[in-house]
Amino acid sequence: MAHRIGIIGGDGIGPEVISEGLKVINAAGVNLETVEYDLGGDRYGRDGTVLPDEVIEEWRSLDALYLGAVGTPDVPPGLIERGLLLKMRFALDLYVNLRPFTYAENNVDFCVVRENTEGSYAGEGGVLRQGTEHEIATQGSVNTRMGVERCIRFAFDLASNRKGHLTLVHKTNVLTFAGDLWERTFNEVAKEYPNVDTSYNHVDAACIYFVQSPDQYDVIVTDNLFGDILTDLGGAISGGIGMAASANLNPTKTGPSMFEPVHGSAPDIAGQGIANPTAAILSGAMMLEFLGENEAADRIKEVCADPAVQVEGTSSIGDAIAQRLV
Ligand code: IPM
Ligand code: MN
Repeated sequence: MAHRIGIIGGDGIGPEVISEGLKVINAAGVNLETVEYDLGGDRYGRDGTVLPDEVIEEWRSLDALYLGAVGTPDVPPGLIERGLLLKMRFALDLYVNLRPFTYAENNVDFCVVRENTEGSYAGEGGVLRQGTEHEIATQGSVNTRMGVERCIRFAFDLASNRKGHLTLVHKTNVLTFAGDLWERTFNEVAKEYPNVDTSYNHVDAACIYFVQSPDQYDVIVTDNLFGDILTDLGGAISGGIGMAASANLNPTKTGPSMFEPVHGSAPDIAGQGIANPTAAILSGAMMLEFLGENEAADRIKEVCADPAVQVEGTSSIGDAIAQRLV
């Protein structure tokens, strides 16, 4: 039976890279039944639609969502990010953002497990006395025991199935309230996983280690904002952000998970056929893996790891990968 997938190409280079991802999935022999959703900054500019609740309800019966990128320069900052991407992550309870990095040249082979529904992204805070010299803006970080624990448990499970090493990244020396909750939860859950070695890095130090000794990492677990920043750096040390894939997971599988490249809509290079589709293709492979299509997923990942497929041009890279799969 075909997997039912919602496709959100989105804005900028989003539709270009997703169409290469679909080409590659097809070449790998997996049958998808796709439903297209016209959403993003362009759609908002046309009729003011961001993400209607009815669309989310429709998505609940799908097997997965495959998204390119959303955001256009003319839309006010946050409107599409919060109104579409974060709304989707929160409404579908996609509480793990899994971002793998492999790059043999730099000894990179690790995964970041980013908490995806809380922290500074939760939207807690507000503005008072706006526009006056007494203006106040607060933006809190929300950390619940339940939210932190389920993310940490996912990371321990992942580490047990990989090299058995898990690093907590935070800033416990300054963010003492949230840091204490994360550290205590991490240490408590660790007792249930005697097969996993653990360590802790402050986020600023982790930035140095990412660049100087990335081979020390296997799995990293961290909060939403640290995970956002660290995974751009992860892309930069693994052949560029055009290679970085991600999975927004609801590990309980009570609804669809969402798969998207880490990069954004890159309006500066949209429509020129020069965006690297590898991140989108690898996100497609993560989707196949989550759908149980392990063999096709492994084959796509193996082909993508071959530097020879990194030719010039969006569709040429897609073709080079697809050709090796049929
Ligand atoms: C990402 C992006 C998003 C995030 C933005 C577009 C809301 O940067 O997926 O990393 O901050 O999570
Ligand atoms: Mn980001």
